[in-house]
Amino acid sequence: MQAEYRESLRDSYVSRREQLMAKIGRGTAIFRSAPMAVMHNDVEYVFRQDSDFYYLTGFNEPEAVAVLAPHHDKHRFILFVQPKDPVKETWTGYRVGVEGAKERYGADEAYPISELDKNLPLYLEKAERIYYHLGRDRPFNDKILKHWQNLMAGYPKRGYGPIAIEDTNPIVHAMRLVKSPAELELMRKAAEISVEAHNHVREFTQPGRYEYEIQAELEHIFRLRGGMGPAYPSIVASGANACVLHYIENNRQMLDNELLLIDAGCAYDYYNADITRTFPVGGKFTPEQKAIYELVLEAQLQAIAQVKPGNPYNLIHDTAVRVLVQGLIDLGLLAGNIDEIIKEEKYKPFYMHSTGHWLGLDVHDAGVYKHGEEVWQSLQPGHVLTVEPGIYIAQNIKPAEGQPEVDEKWRGIGIRIEDDVLVTAEGHEVLTDAVPKEVAAIER
Ligand code: GLY
Ligand code: MN
Ligand code: MN
Repeated sequence: MQAEYRESLRDSYVSRREQLMAKIGRGTAIFRSAPMAVMHNDVEYVFRQDSDFYYLTGFNEPEAVAVLAPHHDKHRFILFVQPKDPVKETWTGYRVGVEGAKERYGADEAYPISELDKNLPLYLEKAERIYYHLGRDRPFNDKILKHWQNLMAGYPKRGYGPIAIEDTNPIVHAMRLVKSPAELELMRKAAEISVEAHNHVREFTQPGRYEYEIQAELEHIFRLRGGMGPAYPSIVASGANACVLHYIENNRQMLDNELLLIDAGCAYDYYNADITRTFPVGGKFTPEQKAIYELVLEAQLQAIAQVKPGNPYNLIHDTAVRVLVQGLIDLGLLAGNIDEIIKEEKYKPFYMHSTGHWLGLDVHDAGVYKHGEEVWQSLQPGHVLTVEPGIYIAQNIKPAEGQPEVDEKWRGIGIRIEDDVLVTAEGHEVLTDAVPKEVAAIER
């Protein structure tokens, strides 16, 4: 499913390229489109553009290369694309083509991708540096390295040439970390559709239904409301399946007195939502389920309260862990001194993942979390992150050394609560707040 090219975003692409070009000075940056991936035999997965490529161009086809050459005397933004070809387009869909790349996507110059080797050196030879991220496409990496090698072979005679390759990620991903109003509009839309889907399936769920029925209802709404589909494989995990973090089989029949954990969100024009809710299949929590649920909710609320400008990223996780550990001690599931348990990570059999991640064009979005050993990224307006603590008491849970055995009555409970949170100048805004999570609101 390709995202629509929005004319309204054209200015965004231009200003992102300008911002990047200002940073690379006399360098040339190269970006490669995502590859097509094979599903089986000659059937391919739906094409999904590389997020950096999309962020800078809005261009949505495979077999493309974008070049930014701010020092070049004629062309600063160059696209290499698949040329128009009526026969091929009949089979595999429309192509923008070389002229379209200029007219619609604002390239100063465009070439068929078959001319990459011939024309790329025009934009590299006078560059002081090449900016390129070594990606998964090894042959393409080799191609770029070969161009570099050729150009530097002429360095002694010319006295100029790109003397280094620098990764584009630190620059582009720092830009992507801060969402613009145009991006937030799309993220709000992804959140809104995902909220509607979660609210629908909470009503739809009942004992006897299969997990896949819930998945189908969720994904039906994702597409029905104009989303591209799921942002990631939907997790619909009933009972002890919730203790498997990436459970995606979704084929079990749900029973009364069990919980259902749903981790699902839609993509809207490539921007993602990521929501988890856990609720009782039959409408009522058992006392043990409720105790764990209220603990996870408290951890989530306290962690979200720490989302504000200037706070270090790790404070969110540390806050959640402290609440969870104290609660597990109070319930007799952990024993000992809270600081020691945290320091020695003795809570990890119950809580083994971190409390969130950046969210945006990628579900686990670009951007660093830490600058060196001890300096965490501080939260800034425009950052979007998930806050998603959980507790997972697997049937075969093995307590950390010196910790109590887990009573049978707790086993098989898996709970996570996840929201998408925007950092604002004043503090934060929970983009996915409209899916209820208080016990009173979800019991039936
Ligand atoms: N659903 C993926 C995640 O929560 O990170
Ligand atoms: Mn998440
Ligand atoms: Mn999730």
